[in-house]
Amino acid sequence: MSVYEPKNTDPQKVLLLYSGGLDTSCMVKWIQQQYDAEVTTLTLYLGQDGATEARKKALDLGASRAYVLDCLDEFADYYLSKTIKANGLYQHGYPLSTALARPLVAERAVEIARMEEADAIAHGCTGKGNDQVRFEVSIKSLAPDISVMAPVRRWNMDRETEKAFARENGIPVGPSSEYSVDANLWGRSIECGPLEDPYREPPSEIFRYVVPPEMAPDAPEYTEIGFESGLPVTLNGEEMRLARLVDTLNGLAGHHGVGIIDHVEDRVVGLKSREVYECPAAVTLLSAHADLERFCSTIHQNEVKAFADRKWSELVYKGLWHDPLRVDLDALMDSMNQGVTGKVRVKLFKGRAMVVGRVSENAVYDHDLATYGREDVFDQTASEGFITIWGLQTSVACRTKRAKTPQPVGDEV
Ligand code: ARG
Repeated sequence: MSVYEPKNTDPQKVLLLYSGGLDTSCMVKWIQQQYDAEVTTLTLYLGQDGATEARKKALDLGASRAYVLDCLDEFADYYLSKTIKANGLYQHGYPLSTALARPLVAERAVEIARMEEADAIAHGCTGKGNDQVRFEVSIKSLAPDISVMAPVRRWNMDRETEKAFARENGIPVGPSSEYSVDANLWGRSIECGPLEDPYREPPSEIFRYVVPPEMAPDAPEYTEIGFESGLPVTLNGEEMRLARLVDTLNGLAGHHGVGIIDHVEDRVVGLKSREVYECPAAVTLLSAHADLERFCSTIHQNEVKAFADRKWSELVYKGLWHDPLRVDLDALMDSMNQGVTGKVRVKLFKGRAMVVGRVSENAVYDHDLATYGREDVFDQTASEGFITIWGLQTSVACRTKRAKTPQPVGDEV
């Protein structure tokens, strides 16, 4: 047996990542029945609804233990802080809200599995998404001896069969929704049902974090975000720990319809899918941060940063949080954010968070150089020599091309 492979025997004790929904509830019973194994559940509170009820639900279903861990501050301090510094967005729009939570869940799962001496970790993801990849790459990287179980890939149950299985096993079947939803402090992801038609506008009743922009207030609201070394530390002058700041801003920006992202994205497993996100605080903070960062950095830093940000976001989206490159990139992000300190004014209005002002003692912006007014200190005559040298190769290349191109004859005067 290779050291990279878990033992190839049926598990005796399984730690199930439990959301409290129908799939993972059925899984408690299914694992017990298939493997005659003991099931312990783990639920992380990351700002979503339903986490506190998960404990009782799991125990009622026969789990031998049910852990519910409040990881909200940890999520904000160690994951959201990094994504803010990295301007984390996948394919120009998705703030990685679901993706960022997965490595944290995997880390806690490995810890609890060790404590409980579980030999397998089970998750509720389907075989078509990114989340299975994220959980499994993280678990394999952190604990190659623990096996991973993904019942949905194997159990061959459609929705109706699953409901029948639930009823047979005394699992409460609530009112079923046509949507699949994942939510946390950084945002809410919604897919399936009518959203599978990429041409169809998302119905406004799907939103929970955001007021539909057309129903948002008719007057704009200004908000001021204070950053220190790349991290938001104050909101409208009040100092706040990151989780509370994000939560408060979700309320403020969501009230103005900010943060709806209708996104057709390329999944790791090759599929293209349409997902609708509502991420009011994420959209506002990321625009404010990126603006202040550009203001405080040189053109050269900004160019490299854009590339590093994209690479960082791809690693996170594609389940490679535990790759050493992500850690290397975070060191770069920290270094490049050292001077990103200042305030950003954002106007929230009818679905948009517009940055309308920024100020910083580290700005590379110099008013007396930029001004067209009397204080101007920029030596405009210096541009003449600069332009000759800057465009030298371009003009030589054009001259060469012209010399080789036959000139029109006959028409010349
Ligand atoms: N497409 C997003 C991602 O891969 C969200 C996945 C979960 N979405 C959901 N509605 N359950 O990160």
